[in-house]
Amino acid sequence: MSPGPLTLAIPKGRVAKALVPLLEKAGVAAPGLLADERRLVRESEDGSLRFLLLKPDDVPTYVEYGAADLGISGRDVLLERRYDLYQPLDLGIGKCRMVVAGPRSGRVPARPRIATKYPRIASEYFASKGIQADVVYVQGSVELAPLVGLANLIVDLVETGTTLAENDLVEREVICDISSVLVANRSLFKLRHAQVQPLVAKLRAATET
Ligand code: PRP
Repeated sequence: MSPGPLTLAIPKGRVAKALVPLLEKAGVAAPGLLADERRLVRESEDGSLRFLLLKPDDVPTYVEYGAADLGISGRDVLLERRYDLYQPLDLGIGKCRMVVAGPRSGRVPARPRIATKYPRIASEYFASKGIQADVVYVQGSVELAPLVGLANLIVDLVETGTTLAENDLVEREVICDISSVLVANRSLFKLRHAQVQPLVAKLRAATET
């Protein structure tokens, strides 16, 4: 009996766009991944891979529960919410950094209020510096918070720096570098090793050239 396609959980958006050329380099044609349609399950041209198109935050959940064999997840998501996943490969795509940013001028109080989509990363970072900070969770458009008095600073991802610049904010500290990594369900990685291992090897070679 054929083992069926490997299932990969993919974050919709910027990372999916960067993934298609990487897959091509690895010998997997998947032009359908970028088709502008609402279908949430798509296939590679040769039918060897099945892709689930998800919100980035949901990728590790699908993989941890075994609904997908593998997934592609930002380190930001993996750092913020701990998962029991194998991480065989850094894909070197989706590169950005987690930073503390704030207004160009103005005093930051000794106990600052921080707006972020990443409350755990923010709390741990300020605690590690011995600074007491109040962390306020927001879902997006984080750069707005210091402009309207919701927070003194933000903790967020910066890629090109355009969003900060257009909102008159500046980067103050880099917390860590972020990129997308391949994650795998621990049991399925062993069970489907004969299929998974060649794909990981091809992806590794593609990231190294
Ligand atoms: C992300 C991130 C920043 C922006 C950084 O937001 O949270 O806001 O991209 O990119 P840049 O440095 O290239 O400008 P996203 O576009 O995912 O939307 P969101 O604000 O709704 O989270």
